[in-house]
Amino acid sequence: MDLTGKTIAVAVTGGIAAYKACDFVRELYRRNAERVLCIMTPNAAEFVTTLTLQALSRYPVFTETLAVDHGGIPIHIVIAQQADALVVLPATADSLCKLAHGAADNLVTTSVITFTGKPVIVVPAMNTRMWDHPLTRQNLDTIRQLPNYVIVEPTSGNLACGETGDGHLADQETILQALYQSVHPEKNLFKGIKAIVTAGGTSEPIDPVRVISNRSSGKMGLALADELYAMGATVTLISTKPPNHRLYDVITVKTASDMQTELNTRFEDTDLLLMAAAISDYTPANPAEHKIKREQQLTPTLALTPNPDILASLGQRKRTGQLLVGFAAESQDLLKNATDKFHRKNLDAIAANDISRTDIGFEADQNEMTLILANGNHHKLERDRKDRIARNLLLTLHEQLLKS
Ligand code: CTP
Repeated sequence: MDLTGKTIAVAVTGGIAAYKACDFVRELYRRNAERVLCIMTPNAAEFVTTLTLQALSRYPVFTETLAVDHGGIPIHIVIAQQADALVVLPATADSLCKLAHGAADNLVTTSVITFTGKPVIVVPAMNTRMWDHPLTRQNLDTIRQLPNYVIVEPTSGNLACGETGDGHLADQETILQALYQSVHPEKNLFKGIKAIVTAGGTSEPIDPVRVISNRSSGKMGLALADELYAMGATVTLISTKPPNHRLYDVITVKTASDMQTELNTRFEDTDLLLMAAAISDYTPANPAEHKIKREQQLTPTLALTPNPDILASLGQRKRTGQLLVGFAAESQDLLKNATDKFHRKNLDAIAANDISRTDIGFEADQNEMTLILANGNHHKLERDRKDRIARNLLLTLHEQLLKS
């Protein structure tokens, strides 16, 4: 996720989850936001001081309804003019009620009603009883109908009041991804496309303790799934490593066989498959039911049996209109080996990845790839962070394979 060039306004209202706004502001800068402008209600300033948010956001923080900037312009107008998105975090039951009814009685509500034509991300947090109240539900339904408004629903968890239930502020990554999607420059590019992304390295059991696995971190696949979602696709991620947010369907698997079962049941209904998972080519022929003891086998030997080539079998089943993209991990003859796999597996594109380098690929945060397409075109995706590589790869795929 990359918020480069974006100005994000964070509006904090008076609930205990206000303290989470502090870390959220820091995280926005970690994701390269250009500016973070914070405003608060007077009640929010009872939970977190303006000074805290000012230090973290690097800009003055206001609480008074009629506050103006150094040039005399009202703050709610400054925000409407300059911010790309406005995040209300946390949104209390009282703020939801006011937002649903168009109130403009404090700086946050005044700013929200002035903020038209751009995304407003509402992140409620409150006690379960307030969350469950029919009036809160009614207010949420009203807000949900508004164009450009996104509600990031709370989760169930331990609440500050000591009770447990719904009302816990959504986790940070889910809020960030919802915000990212709302400001994404290509947010509708893959709209209407049903996509499956596979990610992570499978592990094959030797016994209940040991496995055969590989060095895949799953980061590339997760970055692809996040970007596809942000670009409007309906995403299902089948992965050995689950993401730390809950925005699209995630199926967690362990073995190549699990991966194949999940793909087989979903493939028919899929428009685009990005097969980024590192699938074990072999599995122990006879996994032991109980832990193999050292005394039992001083010099153990492991009999292996081949796993099916899942992508090649899906390539055989491919119907018109379905697109299959493979990922070739190579330590030598990168383009030749990747091109062989492209043909052998009946693909529409393959991303060739040089795994002999330590600065990219497995376990690294950066990658570099060459995308090979059916028309023989080669597209080099220069070394970059995996999220940016994911975006460029998807833009290239769209340009080359989906644009009619
Ligand atoms: N793949 C698969 N099933 C396997 C092995 C790989 O579906 N049993 C998929 C991978 O998810 C990837 C592509 O095939 O998209 C290429 O995987 P890679 O490991 O590079 O190649 P292999 O086909 O396994 O060939 P080799 O190990 O000989 O390089």
